[in-house]
Amino acid sequence: MSLTAEYDAFADVYEIWTATAPVTARNLPFYVDAYRETPGLVAELGVGDGRIAIEAAKAGKPVTGVDASSQMLQRCRARAQAAGVLDQLTLIHADFRDFNLPQPAELISIPFHSIGHLVTIDDKRGGLRHIYGQLATGGRLIFDHFVFDLEAARSRYGVANLRAEYTNPETGRDTLLWVTSRYESETQRIRIITWTDEIDGVGVMVRRQYRRLTFSWLEPAQTRALLEETGFEIDALYGDFDHSPFSDDSPEQIWVARRPLEERRSTSS
Ligand SMILES: C[S@@+](CC[C@H](N)C(=O)[O-])C[C@H]1O[C@@H](n2cnc3c(N)ncnc32)[C@H](O)[C@@H]1O
Repeated sequence: MSLTAEYDAFADVYEIWTATAPVTARNLPFYVDAYRETPGLVAELGVGDGRIAIEAAKAGKPVTGVDASSQMLQRCRARAQAAGVLDQLTLIHADFRDFNLPQPAELISIPFHSIGHLVTIDDKRGGLRHIYGQLATGGRLIFDHFVFDLEAARSRYGVANLRAEYTNPETGRDTLLWVTSRYESETQRIRIITWTDEIDGVGVMVRRQYRRLTFSWLEPAQTRALLEETGFEIDALYGDFDHSPFSDDSPEQIWVARRPLEERRSTSS
């Protein structure tokens, strides 16, 4: 499978992106705790710059990270090296749908809404089937996704939001990070368009760079159906990272699914 890595162009703003996303402070301890409580192999799909995996490694839990973006993996390596835990990470450059783990995993995670990067329902189905096959029997899959409100999102349609104002560490210039998104209700696709404006000492914009990501949303009922048709048992559905149960006004859908010890899989072989 050829790797299309939109994140290669996004890697240089990823740290500021996560620092300015309110959910990252909540999802970090949730996943680090899940990794630490799991004996055996833990694999994070879409490990990115190692934001979560490095914290788990610092707490003594080795993590295998899978990512399609060589630039994100390069940042992950550099950050793990700086934190003194590079030897605790195994990094695999591969797609969610065709990675191969060195042994069956006890836990596979897909943090920070990243299942949405498998854009179509067929992509997600293919990903879940592959993940199922990489888990040990009894092993768990944990992932989160936001609960999408199309009407609320459409009211912000086309509005450019100033996400961050910071000094670009590579150029030393004042930088503005902007974001806007487009939504397609029929395909459940989201196009995230970001751009950085670098400003000189008298306020003149000297460089603008665009970066675009293709994303999607899933309704909770669709997620449940996909998990069940793949053969997963659902252990829990949380509505936020404090393990509160899912309800109609939950901001997140956080799924804990399991490859059954006794398999009853019908459709995915
Ligand atoms: C939102 S970031 C999450 C990074 C990290 N897990 C975190 O929570 O900060 C999504 C990551 O998934 C990777 N990714 C997206 N689609 C992928 C795919 N189909 N296969 C493998 N990696 C993918 C991207 O390259 C990116 O590093």
